Parts: sequence; C-alpha cells; structure tokens
Amino acid sequence: MKIIFAKHLICIKHCDKQYRLILENLIEKDGKECIEGFLICPNCNSKYPIIEGIAIIVNNFPGYIENRTEMYGKWLLECKTDSMKEFLKDSGRSVSTRLAESDLYEDGGIWYFPYKWFQQENHREDRLIKSLKWNINPDELYDRVINSINPKFDGIALDLGCAMGKSTIKLGKKYSFVIGVDLSFSFIKEARKVMQQDLQGNVEFCVADTSSLPFHRMKFDLVLVMNLIELVNPKELLSTIHKLLKPQCDVIITDPYDYNRKRIIEDKYDAQSFRQLVEDNGFEINPSNKKKEAFIPWILKINERVYLFYFVDFIRAKKLSKHKLF
Ligand SMILES: C[S@@+](CC[C@H](N)C(=O)[O-])C[C@H]1O[C@@H](n2cnc3c(N)ncnc32)[C@H](O)[C@@H]1O
Ligand SMILES: [Zn+2]
Repeated sequence: MKIIFAKHLICIKHCDKQYRLILENLIEKDGKECIEGFLICPNCNSKYPIIEGIAIIVNNFPGYIENRTEMYGKWLLECKTDSMKEFLKDSGRSVSTRLAESDLYEDGGIWYFPYKWFQQENHREDRLIKSLKWNINPDELYDRVINSINPKFDGIALDLGCAMGKSTIKLGKKYSFVIGVDLSFSFIKEARKVMQQDLQGNVEFCVADTSSLPFHRMKFDLVLVMNLIELVNPKELLSTIHKLLKPQCDVIITDPYDYNRKRIIEDKYDAQSFRQLVEDNGFEINPSNKKKEAFIPWILKINERVYLFYFVDFIRAKKLSKHKLF
C-alpha cells in the first residue's frame, strides 16, 4: 500500500465521527510503500491489517477469513512480523467453527478465472473470438465506459467492485487519484501487480465491502460501479454513493441484471425499475440514458468450452444535492 494512501482512509466502526486511520508501518519498501502493517483508529483503536501490501478494511475480520481459510493459513505462514502473526492468531480464535463457503471471487473460486480472462488476457487469440463472424471486442464495455468520461485532472474517482482493476487503471489517466475497492483479496493482489507494472502512481486499491467504505463523505468526483448491483443491496449502495459523491457529481453504473449469479436475495431490478430506484435515491439520470437502455456486449469465459455472453445496460446519473428519501 502506498504510504500516502493512509490519508484517504477513515475508520468504518463509527459513521458519525470520521477518524482518519493512522499507519503503523511494520515493513516498508523504498520509503514509499507499506508491505506489512496496520491502520489504526485513534478513537476506537480498531486495527485493520495490511498484508502483502494490501489494506483489508472490513468490519469483521474473523468473518472475512472464515470464507478464506486457505488464504488465512498462507498469511499466517508467510507474514514477517510477530505483531501480524499475533493479530492473525487472535482473529483466528474468533472464527466460528461452522463450515463456511469459500468466496467465489478468490483464487480457486468459480469466478476467479472468468475475470482473469476478461480483465487480463489478450482476447485476439481466443478460440471463440477468432471464430465469430461478428467482430466482437470483449473490451468494448470498458472502452465505452471510459470514453464517456471527461477528464478531471484535479478530481478523485472511486471504482467499486473493481476486480483486477482494469477500469480503475484506465480511470487513472483521467483523474488525479483513483481508488479501486473489492472484497476479493486475490483480485486486489492482481490489480496491484498491474498497477506496479504500469507505474501508476495515482492509483491505489484496498479490500473493503461496499456496505461500509472507509472514505469521508463528499470525497469523490466520480463513482464507477460496473456489474455489481445484483451482488449487494442496491438501495444501500445508492445511498452510500450519494454520501460519497461531491454535489452535482456523477455515478456511472453498468449492469446485466443477471440474478442467476447473485448472493443476496433482495428485490430484483430490470432496466426500468432500476432507473426508478436511482431517481428515488437522489440522482438525476442523464437524458441520453433516461429512457433508452443500453445493450453493450460483455463476455466472460467460464472455461475453454463455456462462455457467458451478456448485454449490459449503462446509466450515468448526477447527484442532486437536495433530495428526500422516501
Ligand atoms: C461481477 S464482478 C464485476 C467486476 C468489474 N467491475 C467488472 O465489471 O469487470 C463483481 C465484483 O464485485 C466484488 N464484490 C462483490 N460483493 C462486493 C462487496 N460487497 N463489496 C466490494 N466488492 C464486492 C467481487 O469480488 C467482484 O470482483
Ligand atoms: Zn474507530
């Protein structure tokens, strides 16, 4: 984690008082990075670990490792400092003994490979893409989204559910600083590798849950949410985005409304009902996508013989300063 990133982060245990987290840097690299350490709240003393250079800012760390037991074992074996070992052992003692499901978006989970293919591989040599008569470009979704954004070189942007950070890194070319957030440690690890290869100094990633994000209110000039809404509570998500955005700033949401892959059973939305929800939660939809839904191709490769093809909707909406919540 870049040392300067600490100044962007606040404690998630108390929403009313927003305390900036203090970095305890146990293992440093080049005077600029924290490889192992803690982010500590000066008010409630909550400790959030930084492991393999990745800040994990979640409310319930034992709950987080419960779905990632293999990864937890690896952290325990490979961490370098006694303080981290102690912290991990303590957290392990609070893990419930029930058999928990492994997270599907971590390395080894069913969604890991499809996103790695989509976000990191060269699609030109892919068997399906080569054999299609229709010249389909799996990057079209990112290209359309990023091209629709006007640069704001003094602005700060947030990419929620960023996976391996392809969209985050592209946004880095248009904003002064961009933060990518995802619950999957494995995805964030890959995203940080690409960030380091590209020498992107103005991008950083952390593990966090969209239901409690470690950022000040009205911090962001843009929030990007690609293909996430079925996996979270969409009303809560919109309310969080409303708080995080500066007045009159935009959220961009893309989604296939595919409830076959959802984890949480909530209300299901389609293009029309989701637009209504966005408006009911204090946003004004851009006239160009208010009535007309988009159909942007998006392909995920499940394995050598199975692909998922989606048409994804696109909504751009502006935060209205005054709005009543119903
Ligand atoms: C369908 S993928 C979309 C990834 C990327 N935005 C894209 O469009 O290529 C959803 C991502 O959201 C992450 N995710 C799911 N629930 C989350 C939550 N509550 N908080 C943060 N990230 C979450 C998953 O780990 C996964 O990387
Ligand atoms: Zn605190």
